[in-house]
Amino acid sequence: MPQAVNGPRGRFITLEGGEGVGKSTNVAFVVERLRGHGIDVVSTREPGGTPTAEAIRELLLAHHEEPLDSDAELLLVFAARAQHLARKIRPALARGTWVVCDRFTDATFAYQGGGRGIDGERIALLEGFVQRELTPDLTLLLDMPLEDAEARLAGRLDKSGEVRDRFEREQRDFFERVRRAYLARAHCAEERVAVIDAGGSLDAVQRRIGHCLDERIAAWS
Ligand code: TMP
Repeated sequence: MPQAVNGPRGRFITLEGGEGVGKSTNVAFVVERLRGHGIDVVSTREPGGTPTAEAIRELLLAHHEEPLDSDAELLLVFAARAQHLARKIRPALARGTWVVCDRFTDATFAYQGGGRGIDGERIALLEGFVQRELTPDLTLLLDMPLEDAEARLAGRLDKSGEVRDRFEREQRDFFERVRRAYLARAHCAEERVAVIDAGGSLDAVQRRIGHCLDERIAAWS
Protein backbone atom coordinates (compact mmCIF):
# COMPACT_ATOMS: atom_id res chain seq x y z
CA MET A 1 0.00 0.00 0.00
CA PRO A 2 1.31 3.49 -0.77
CA GLN A 3 1.79 5.53 2.39
CA ALA A 4 -1.13 7.81 3.27
CA VAL A 5 -0.19 11.46 3.24
CA ASN A 6 -3.30 12.74 5.02
CA GLY A 7 -2.50 15.56 7.40
CA PRO A 8 -4.69 16.59 10.30
CA ARG A 9 -7.01 18.44 7.89
CA GLY A 10 -7.80 17.14 4.44
CA ARG A 11 -6.86 19.13 1.36
CA PHE A 12 -9.52 20.85 -0.71
CA ILE A 13 -9.08 20.61 -4.49
CA THR A 14 -11.46 22.15 -7.02
CA LEU A 15 -11.80 21.77 -10.79
CA GLU A 16 -13.09 24.64 -12.86
CA GLY A 17 -13.69 25.61 -16.46
CA GLY A 18 -16.36 26.54 -18.96
CA GLU A 19 -18.84 24.16 -20.58
CA GLY A 20 -17.33 21.32 -22.64
CA VAL A 21 -13.76 21.45 -21.27
CA GLY A 22 -13.96 17.88 -19.92
CA LYS A 23 -14.32 18.59 -16.20
CA SER A 24 -16.35 15.53 -15.17
CA THR A 25 -13.96 13.01 -16.78
CA ASN A 26 -11.03 14.74 -15.16
CA VAL A 27 -12.61 14.92 -11.71
CA ALA A 28 -12.73 11.10 -11.80
CA PHE A 29 -9.09 11.04 -12.93
CA VAL A 30 -8.00 13.33 -10.05
CA VAL A 31 -9.82 11.16 -7.51
CA GLU A 32 -8.15 8.01 -8.84
CA ARG A 33 -4.74 9.67 -8.85
CA LEU A 34 -5.13 10.73 -5.21
CA ARG A 35 -6.34 7.26 -4.21
CA GLY A 36 -3.24 5.88 -5.90
CA HIS A 37 -1.23 7.95 -3.41
CA GLY A 38 -3.14 6.28 -0.56
CA ILE A 39 -5.25 9.37 0.14
CA ASP A 40 -8.81 9.11 1.46
CA VAL A 41 -10.93 11.23 -0.92
CA VAL A 42 -14.56 12.27 -1.40
CA SER A 43 -15.70 13.56 -4.74
CA THR A 44 -18.49 16.12 -4.95
CA ARG A 45 -19.84 18.93 -7.10
CA GLU A 46 -21.43 22.37 -7.10
CA PRO A 47 -24.07 23.51 -7.23
CA GLY A 48 -25.10 20.42 -5.29
CA GLY A 49 -23.32 17.75 -3.28
CA THR A 50 -26.05 17.14 -0.66
CA PRO A 51 -29.76 16.37 -1.20
CA THR A 52 -30.84 19.93 -0.32
CA ALA A 53 -28.07 21.55 -2.37
CA GLU A 54 -28.96 19.25 -5.31
CA ALA A 55 -32.58 20.51 -5.04
CA ILE A 56 -31.24 24.07 -5.33
CA ARG A 57 -29.15 22.94 -8.32
CA GLU A 58 -32.32 21.76 -10.08
CA LEU A 59 -33.90 25.14 -9.48
CA LEU A 60 -30.81 26.87 -10.89
CA LEU A 61 -30.47 24.74 -14.03
CA ALA A 62 -34.15 24.36 -15.02
CA HIS A 63 -35.93 26.71 -17.39
CA HIS A 64 -38.61 28.80 -15.73
CA GLU A 65 -41.31 30.88 -17.27
CA GLU A 66 -40.45 33.60 -14.78
CA PRO A 67 -36.88 34.73 -15.55
CA LEU A 68 -34.56 34.23 -12.58
CA ASP A 69 -33.20 37.53 -11.27
CA SER A 70 -29.39 37.49 -11.29
CA ASP A 71 -29.14 38.45 -7.59
CA ALA A 72 -31.57 35.63 -6.76
CA GLU A 73 -29.38 33.29 -8.82
CA LEU A 74 -26.29 34.44 -6.92
CA LEU A 75 -27.95 33.92 -3.54
CA LEU A 76 -29.18 30.46 -4.53
CA VAL A 77 -25.65 29.47 -5.55
CA PHE A 78 -24.36 30.57 -2.13
CA ALA A 79 -27.30 28.97 -0.29
CA ALA A 80 -26.40 25.65 -1.93
CA ARG A 81 -22.73 26.26 -1.05
CA ALA A 82 -23.49 27.00 2.61
CA GLN A 83 -25.39 23.72 2.90
CA HIS A 84 -22.69 21.79 1.04
CA LEU A 85 -19.94 23.24 3.25
CA ALA A 86 -21.84 22.55 6.48
CA ARG A 87 -23.02 19.04 5.66
CA LYS A 88 -20.27 17.60 3.51
CA ILE A 89 -17.10 19.61 2.82
CA ARG A 90 -16.16 20.86 6.31
CA PRO A 91 -16.90 17.53 8.06
CA ALA A 92 -14.81 15.63 5.48
CA LEU A 93 -11.84 18.02 5.74
CA ALA A 94 -12.06 17.95 9.55
CA ARG A 95 -11.70 14.15 9.64
CA GLY A 96 -8.68 14.31 7.33
CA THR A 97 -10.44 13.30 4.12
CA TRP A 98 -9.50 15.21 0.99
CA VAL A 99 -12.32 16.79 -1.01
CA VAL A 100 -12.34 17.03 -4.81
CA CYS A 101 -15.09 19.36 -5.93
CA ASP A 102 -16.36 19.87 -9.48
CA ARG A 103 -16.68 23.70 -9.42
CA PHE A 104 -16.71 26.05 -6.43
CA THR A 105 -16.62 29.81 -5.86
CA ASP A 106 -14.38 30.60 -8.85
CA ALA A 107 -17.38 29.49 -10.92
CA THR A 108 -19.48 32.14 -9.18
CA PHE A 109 -16.95 34.86 -10.04
CA ALA A 110 -16.88 33.53 -13.62
CA TYR A 111 -20.62 32.91 -14.28
CA GLN A 112 -22.43 35.35 -12.00
CA GLY A 113 -19.56 37.89 -12.09
CA GLY A 114 -18.22 37.64 -15.65
CA GLY A 115 -21.30 36.12 -17.29
CA ARG A 116 -24.12 38.01 -15.55
CA GLY A 117 -22.09 41.14 -14.78
CA ILE A 118 -22.50 41.14 -10.98
CA ASP A 119 -19.86 43.25 -9.24
CA GLY A 120 -17.01 41.10 -7.88
CA GLU A 121 -17.03 42.98 -4.56
CA ARG A 122 -20.59 41.87 -3.88
CA ILE A 123 -19.63 38.27 -4.66
CA ALA A 124 -16.58 38.58 -2.40
CA LEU A 125 -18.86 39.72 0.46
CA LEU A 126 -20.90 36.53 0.17
CA GLU A 127 -17.75 34.47 -0.23
CA GLY A 128 -16.46 35.78 3.12
CA PHE A 129 -19.86 35.34 4.78
CA VAL A 130 -20.35 31.73 3.64
CA GLN A 131 -16.80 30.39 3.57
CA ARG A 132 -15.12 32.39 6.36
CA GLU A 133 -11.48 31.17 6.31
CA LEU A 134 -11.98 28.27 3.91
CA THR A 135 -10.64 28.47 0.36
CA PRO A 136 -9.43 25.65 -1.90
CA ASP A 137 -5.81 24.53 -1.49
CA LEU A 138 -5.53 23.91 -5.22
CA THR A 139 -7.74 24.75 -8.19
CA LEU A 140 -7.25 23.17 -11.60
CA LEU A 141 -8.68 25.51 -14.21
CA LEU A 142 -9.25 23.59 -17.45
CA ASP A 143 -8.99 26.08 -20.26
CA MET A 144 -9.48 25.83 -24.00
CA PRO A 145 -10.67 28.04 -26.88
CA LEU A 146 -14.43 28.51 -26.96
CA GLU A 147 -14.94 26.98 -30.42
CA ASP A 148 -13.32 23.71 -29.31
CA ALA A 149 -15.27 23.61 -26.04
CA GLU A 150 -18.55 24.30 -27.87
CA ALA A 151 -17.83 21.48 -30.35
CA ARG A 152 -17.18 19.06 -27.47
CA LEU A 153 -20.32 20.13 -25.63
CA ALA A 154 -22.45 19.73 -28.78
CA GLY A 155 -20.96 16.25 -29.36
CA ARG A 156 -21.70 15.19 -25.77
CA LEU A 157 -25.30 16.48 -25.90
CA ASP A 158 -25.91 14.79 -29.27
CA LYS A 159 -24.67 11.49 -27.88
CA SER A 160 -26.58 11.61 -24.60
CA GLY A 161 -29.74 13.27 -25.94
CA GLU A 162 -29.68 15.68 -22.95
CA VAL A 163 -31.21 19.10 -23.52
CA ARG A 164 -29.20 22.23 -22.80
CA ASP A 165 -29.73 23.59 -19.28
CA ARG A 166 -30.34 27.26 -18.45
CA PHE A 167 -26.59 28.08 -18.55
CA GLU A 168 -25.74 25.94 -21.57
CA ARG A 169 -28.34 27.92 -23.55
CA GLU A 170 -26.46 31.19 -23.07
CA GLN A 171 -24.87 32.92 -26.05
CA ARG A 172 -21.25 32.92 -27.06
CA ASP A 173 -20.45 36.35 -25.59
CA PHE A 174 -21.64 35.08 -22.18
CA PHE A 175 -19.08 32.24 -22.37
CA GLU A 176 -16.39 34.62 -23.56
CA ARG A 177 -16.95 36.71 -20.43
CA VAL A 178 -16.96 33.53 -18.29
CA ARG A 179 -13.62 32.43 -19.73
CA ARG A 180 -12.06 35.88 -19.30
CA ALA A 181 -13.26 36.06 -15.69
CA TYR A 182 -11.79 32.60 -14.94
CA LEU A 183 -8.43 33.58 -16.41
CA ALA A 184 -8.43 36.89 -14.53
CA ARG A 185 -9.07 35.01 -11.25
CA ALA A 186 -6.24 32.60 -12.04
CA HIS A 187 -3.94 35.54 -12.72
CA CYS A 188 -4.72 37.04 -9.28
CA ALA A 189 -4.22 33.73 -7.45
CA GLU A 190 -1.29 32.11 -9.24
CA GLU A 191 -0.23 30.10 -6.18
CA ARG A 192 -3.62 28.44 -5.84
CA VAL A 193 -4.89 28.19 -9.43
CA ALA A 194 -3.10 26.05 -12.02
CA VAL A 195 -4.31 26.75 -15.55
CA ILE A 196 -4.34 23.46 -17.47
CA ASP A 197 -4.45 23.45 -21.26
CA ALA A 198 -7.53 21.26 -21.85
CA GLY A 199 -6.92 20.94 -25.60
CA GLY A 200 -5.59 17.86 -27.39
CA SER A 201 -6.07 14.23 -26.44
CA LEU A 202 -7.48 13.15 -23.07
CA ASP A 203 -4.17 11.39 -22.42
CA ALA A 204 -2.21 14.59 -22.90
CA VAL A 205 -4.57 16.59 -20.66
CA GLN A 206 -4.38 13.94 -17.93
CA ARG A 207 -0.59 13.90 -18.12
CA ARG A 208 -0.63 17.66 -17.43
CA ILE A 209 -3.08 17.25 -14.54
CA GLY A 210 -1.19 14.29 -13.09
CA HIS A 211 2.09 16.19 -13.17
CA CYS A 212 0.57 19.19 -11.43
CA LEU A 213 -1.07 17.02 -8.74
CA ASP A 214 2.06 14.97 -8.04
CA GLU A 215 4.05 18.18 -7.58
CA ARG A 216 1.53 19.57 -5.09
CA ILE A 217 1.26 16.34 -3.15
CA ALA A 218 5.03 16.21 -2.83
CA ALA A 219 5.12 19.84 -1.66
CA TRP A 220 2.39 19.21 0.96
CA SER A 221 3.92 16.02 2.34
P1 TMP B 1 -21.81 21.84 -14.39
O1 TMP B 1 -21.68 22.33 -15.80
O2 TMP B 1 -20.49 21.70 -13.72
O3 TMP B 1 -22.68 20.68 -14.22
O4 TMP B 1 -22.46 23.07 -13.54
C1 TMP B 1 -23.76 23.49 -13.74
C2 TMP B 1 -23.83 24.94 -14.10
O5 TMP B 1 -23.83 25.75 -12.92
C3 TMP B 1 -22.73 25.45 -14.99
O6 TMP B 1 -23.31 25.90 -16.18
C4 TMP B 1 -22.17 26.62 -14.26
C5 TMP B 1 -23.19 26.96 -13.21
N1 TMP B 1 -22.63 27.53 -11.98
C6 TMP B 1 -22.78 28.88 -11.73
O7 TMP B 1 -23.35 29.60 -12.54
N2 TMP B 1 -22.25 29.40 -10.59
C7 TMP B 1 -21.61 28.63 -9.67
O8 TMP B 1 -21.14 29.14 -8.64
C8 TMP B 1 -21.48 27.21 -9.93
C9 TMP B 1 -20.79 26.34 -8.94
C10 TMP B 1 -21.99 26.71 -11.10
